[in-house]
Amino acid sequence: MKVSIIGGGGLVGSCTGFALQCGGVVREIAMLDLNANAAAGHALDIMHGSPSVADQRITSGGYEHIPSSDVVCITAGLRRKPDESRLDLINRNTDLFNGILDEVKKAGLKSSAIVLVVSNPVDILTFAAAKKLGLPATQVLGLGTQLDTIRFCSLIAEQLGSAPTQTRALILGEHGDSMVPIWSSATVGALPLEKYPGWNNSLAEKIFTRTKGSGAEVISKKGGAGFAVGIAIRDVIEAIALDRQCILPVSTIQDGACYGIRDVALSVPTIVGRSGALQRIEMDLWPKEVQGLKASASAIKPTLDAVMKRIG
Ligand code: LAC
Repeated sequence: MKVSIIGGGGLVGSCTGFALQCGGVVREIAMLDLNANAAAGHALDIMHGSPSVADQRITSGGYEHIPSSDVVCITAGLRRKPDESRLDLINRNTDLFNGILDEVKKAGLKSSAIVLVVSNPVDILTFAAAKKLGLPATQVLGLGTQLDTIRFCSLIAEQLGSAPTQTRALILGEHGDSMVPIWSSATVGALPLEKYPGWNNSLAEKIFTRTKGSGAEVISKKGGAGFAVGIAIRDVIEAIALDRQCILPVSTIQDGACYGIRDVALSVPTIVGRSGALQRIEMDLWPKEVQGLKASASAIKPTLDAVMKRIG
């Protein structure tokens, strides 16, 4: 499997390349960037480590890599300022992203290629990518709330002192201010989180608020998130590469099958495998969680409509 990372010269792209190297699953990682030198530098740096990790090809360059790629991961774009919402970014990122889609289309994708959108606002750009590239919704995924989900689990685990890999709680909806915490199915070691000694509602509220602000917190401390984003991307790409068919909260265009939400991309539990987003699962959620998801769809819609008008 070959993965091209558009934006491979940047923080998110380079962390993605490194995470995929550490995973050792994909065969080739190509780092693409307008800043060719930065992409080549990251590729070289990653390649230097390969003898100690895995037999992978690490390359760099431009859109000539697209026709041979099985997964095209788009991380390029401007980063928001700490006080800016991801939706605010749309004014600055739409034209840049649209230009990338034009180049990808011109280069020509494999018919089985999966496009993974990471650039923000991810739900809107995922919708735009599927429409513009003329691909079925199953082949265009947005990283969505997979990143928020692992942040959420890490913060719950830190609070409880529980094992992070045994601490499970989902975030669904928009990767942005209207994201929805799913407490109804949260577990630690497969036992209900709400029964965990010391757990209470005010703790829950505090942890969710910090999760929602995690992107901004990292931006204000180090300029932008990289490591956890790379790991979240690896979760999705390895699910594709290994045809794992595991359920991940990734963003796809909704067709009404889940909670009646349609004509907008957002994250719901989705089975991910070699053919992309194989199926969306409508889980039985608490009524306020379902309301939250519907509100999240409404929050995205006006910006989405404006963007689709602009890029046609
Ligand atoms: C964040 C960016 C990637 O949440 O949206 O850090």
